[in-house]
Formats: sequence, C-alpha cells, structure tokens
Amino acid sequence: MKPEHGHRLRLLALSCWLVLGLAGRALAAPPPIIDYADRFHPVVGAAGMVVSQEAVASRVGADILARGGNAVDAAVATGFALTVTLPQAGNLGGGGFMLAHLKEQNQTIAIDYREVAPRAAHRDLFVGANGAVDPELARFSHRSAGVPGTVAGLALAQKKYGTLSLAEVMAPAIALAEKGIRVTRPLAFSLGEAASRLRKSSAAAGYYLLPGGEPPPPGHRLQQPDLARTLRQIATQGPQAFYTGAVAAQIVAEMKAHDGLITAQDLAEYQPVERAPVTGTYRGYQVVAMPPPSSGGVHLIQMLNVLEGWNLAALGHNSAAYLHRLIETMRRAYADRGEYLGDPDFVAVPVTELTSKDHAARLRASIDLTHATPSSAVAPTLKLPAESPQTTHFSVWDAKGNVVSNTYTLNFSYGSGIAVAGAGFLLNNEMDDFSAQPGVPNAYGLVGGSANAIEARKRPLSSMTPTILFKDGKPILATGSPGGPVIITAVLQIVLNVVDFGMNVADAAAQPRIHHQWQPDQVFYETGLSPDTLTLLSGMGHTLVRSPRVLGRTQTIGSDGTLLYGANDTRWPGGEAVAVEAIAR
Ligand code: DON
Repeated sequence: MKPEHGHRLRLLALSCWLVLGLAGRALAAPPPIIDYADRFHPVVGAAGMVVSQEAVASRVGADILARGGNAVDAAVATGFALTVTLPQAGNLGGGGFMLAHLKEQNQTIAIDYREVAPRAAHRDLFVGANGAVDPELARFSHRSAGVPGTVAGLALAQKKYGTLSLAEVMAPAIALAEKGIRVTRPLAFSLGEAASRLRKSSAAAGYYLLPGGEPPPPGHRLQQPDLARTLRQIATQGPQAFYTGAVAAQIVAEMKAHDGLITAQDLAEYQPVERAPVTGTYRGYQVVAMPPPSSGGVHLIQMLNVLEGWNLAALGHNSAAYLHRLIETMRRAYADRGEYLGDPDFVAVPVTELTSKDHAARLRASIDLTHATPSSAVAPTLKLPAESPQTTHFSVWDAKGNVVSNTYTLNFSYGSGIAVAGAGFLLNNEMDDFSAQPGVPNAYGLVGGSANAIEARKRPLSSMTPTILFKDGKPILATGSPGGPVIITAVLQIVLNVVDFGMNVADAAAQPRIHHQWQPDQVFYETGLSPDTLTLLSGMGHTLVRSPRVLGRTQTIGSDGTLLYGANDTRWPGGEAVAVEAIAR
C-alpha cells in the first residue's frame, strides 16, 4: 500500500465526518486502514493473520495457514499450542467460545464449549455450615471445576469446519510438549506469581515448578511429557480419549481422591453446543457476537445501541463527556446482567429485549448527561472484586476470508491451580462464575441471582466476548479479550475506537480504557487519561479508581477487504500478531 493512501482516505473520511457532524449525525468511520502517520502500527499481511497472547502459538497457527489450512484449522492448532505455551490460560481442562465466519457458506457459527456443572452440583454447593459462601471451596478445590469443554469444542470445530485432520493440527502442540518450550520472561513471571498456589497440588508443582518448588527461570526448558501423552491420545483417538477413554479415567481418579464431583457419566455426557450468534447493528455495521451462556454479546450490543444515540466522535476520544456516557451505559448494562443472564438451557434470557433499540432508548433517556447516577439508584448495592485472573483470546483470518474469534479460559490464572495427576493439565475453577448465593459477589465482584444459580448440568454465566464486525456483509474486524467482566467493556472500546474514531487496530488497542460494572459503584481506569479529565468526571459524581490491573488484553484483526491488520495488545509481553504473506501451493 502506498504510504499516502491511508492518509488520503483518512482526510476524505474526516471531511465527510465534519459535514455530517454539522448535520448533527454520527456516522461510520472507514475500516481500519493503516496510516503511516499513526503512533501505533498493526502487523500487515496479505494472505492470513493469527494474533494470540503467546508468540510460539501464533506462529503455529500462521504455519497452518501458510500450508493452506483454513482459519478453523489454524485456530484449533493455536488453541492446542497455547495449552503448552501459555499454561495460565491455554487449556485442555477449561472451556470457552468460538465464533467462526465461514466465507463459502456466508454464515457465522458460534460454538459454546463452556464447562457444565457436574450432576452432583446443587444450588448451595459452596455454602458452608455457617450459611456463608466458602470462596476457598468455590475457587481452589476440586469442586471448583466444571466438566471441561475445550477438547470437545475444538474437536467439533475441526471436524465440521476444518480442512485438515485433528492429528495434523495437533502435531505442533504435541511436539512442543514433548521437546519442551523455552520458558519466556512473562511465563517465568506468571509462574512466580502462581507458585504458592501450584505447590498445593503435587501434580501441578511437578508440571510447572522446579523440583525444589521454585518457578523455573527464563530460558529453562520446560518439557511436559504427560501433557504430550494426553494430546497424542486425543489426536489419535479423537475427543473420546478425553471424555470416555484413558484421560477420562485419570480425571475421575483425581476427583475421587480429592472429594471432587466430576464422574465418568459427567464426562461422557459433555456436549459442546452450536448456537445462533447474537446480532445487532451499530452505525451501519453488523455486530455478531457470542450468545448466552456468555453475557458478552448481549451486553456489547446493548451498550452499542445506547451509545449510538450520541455523536461520540464529536465529543472527542476519552474526553470527560465521552467517558461519562460510556460509564453510565456500562452501569446500566451490568445491572441487567446480574438480573437476567444465565444458561439459556435453564432460564429464559430476554435476549431480544435486551438487545433491542427500544430498550437502549429507554436506558439512554435515563442518563443524566451532567451527573453520575448512583448504582444504588439503578439497583441494590453490593460489593467488590480482587483477583488476578487469566483467560486468553485469539483471532485468526485466512486468505479466503474465513475468520475465527475464540476466547477460552481456566477462569483464574492456572485455574484452581490443581492439575490432573498423570494427565498433564490443569483444572478450571469456572464453578465460581455461578452466583453461589443471590447477591454475594464472585471473585470479579459480579453479583447475580437465580438466573445464574448453580444447578446440575448447567453452564455458569460468562463474560467472554469473541466478536466479529461486518460492513455490508463482509467481515472487517475480529476481536476479543480476557479479563472477566472487563472483557465486555474492553471489546466495546475496541469497536468504538475503530468505528467512531477511525483508529487502526493497534492504535485502538493501545488507548487507555475504563470499566464500570454497576457494582461496585466505581469507575476503574488505566493510566493515560489526563488528570483534567479525571477531575471533570469526579466533579460529575463518579468515584474513580486507578485499576490495579490492565483492563483487558485484546487480540484483534482488521480487514479493509484487501489487507489484514493484526494487533496483539501491548498489555502483556510475549504475544504476537503473525502475518502470512503467501500460501504454499
Ligand atoms: O467466563 C468468564 O467470564 C470468566 N471465567 C473469564 C475469566 C477471565 O477472563 C479471567 N481473565 N483474565
């Protein structure tokens, strides 16, 4: 692309913007075209792109694309590779959601491979004898684990929508586990943070720590022979190995030995579900995202609907007037989340109402443009979060225009910290995403009621928001993030930065973000907002809290129809956007 090309388009867009702005209308910005005058630059490629939070895994996916595999092949390969190279979030023992746009079928599918509560789970599973929720039991015990969905989900995607065999896409992960990976600085850091938790599970300590119990230093070669064996069994026997075969037996033995709940029947019954994505529109773009049991898509669309009523670009990016509208919109969406969202197989979730323009108009009308509405006036008051969690997102785009946006997780960093002895992988603690008691916040400070109460075989409510944005039916953006409740607002701000402010995907990711989730009634913000802006916001009645952690880590790909633009969020070192320039024929 000629350097001045993007610049000219930008100027053209700017003049259109001014004209329509004067006419009092907000409008769509151009697609994320690169401008060489920008401060942040995406990776550009012509024939494919993989963006993930760990560079080796991104390269695994890009190699599959370069060999002619499609986006689903590459996504599944990346997903299995992350299990080896990013053990804090990449997983076999967790679950997630995959959104895939299939160019030939002109269809976008959503695979729900969220964990389910074991049959023996019940409403008061985590309520102790004193009547209070026992967070240790909910988060750090064998009972924290839902029946894992990742293996079934990735295998389903591969079989139905991939072009290569499961064994072919799993081969790189097997080799990495067997030969070993070099521990990177970020991995050494992350293992150091988690070491005290991992030491409590002798299996986990054996897999990830040195014999003395210390975390391995950067440069150490970490081999994972048990994980390699498990991966090979899945690659050769299919997901049955995990759900009814030798791996299932290891999981059941682990559960029996430690008072866990997952049985052979729970594993044998696990099924990923294909669901219709949730859809909406925003300033002429089509938004396609994950439906319940994730709350992500519903509230992303709900918030976009509310924000569509204002000309945000005219307010100025991250100005107090802009951020106030965002905060008030977030507050109202998260109040609805706590009330209405849960597993749609168990509760009726009013998706159509929540994502309607009418509901958005009512919410918008309730917003005072100069004063914060206390959350207590939106719904009853409850309490705060404090954890250091991990999930991971990756986006893949192939030369044909197939797109995958996938988020999966163990919930916390390294899940419950408990590994399945002999099987080489960690167990999730996704059961804490249920509402253990009405009104009692989970680790993210999220509160819920009966819609998200624990029930046997139910999926806990999630915030994961794999998203694809379309313009005139063509995909132009794939994004997603980790961060628990912060995921939805991080994805929202990526979409706004691209659509309303015309930023390229790297610029969009680099901007400081804010987050509000109704309860606690606080605005979390990242560094980079001006003190003047913060003063204006507190003058409006907002309580501002510098976020103790980053607000999401997005992995985004944009397309202008010709080129692909990848951006790995700079909020964690070690990720990479890997471009493919040509396909081997
Ligand atoms: O499904 C959810 O919403 C959470 N279990 C995700 C956890 C998460 O994103 C932690 N990441 N940093």
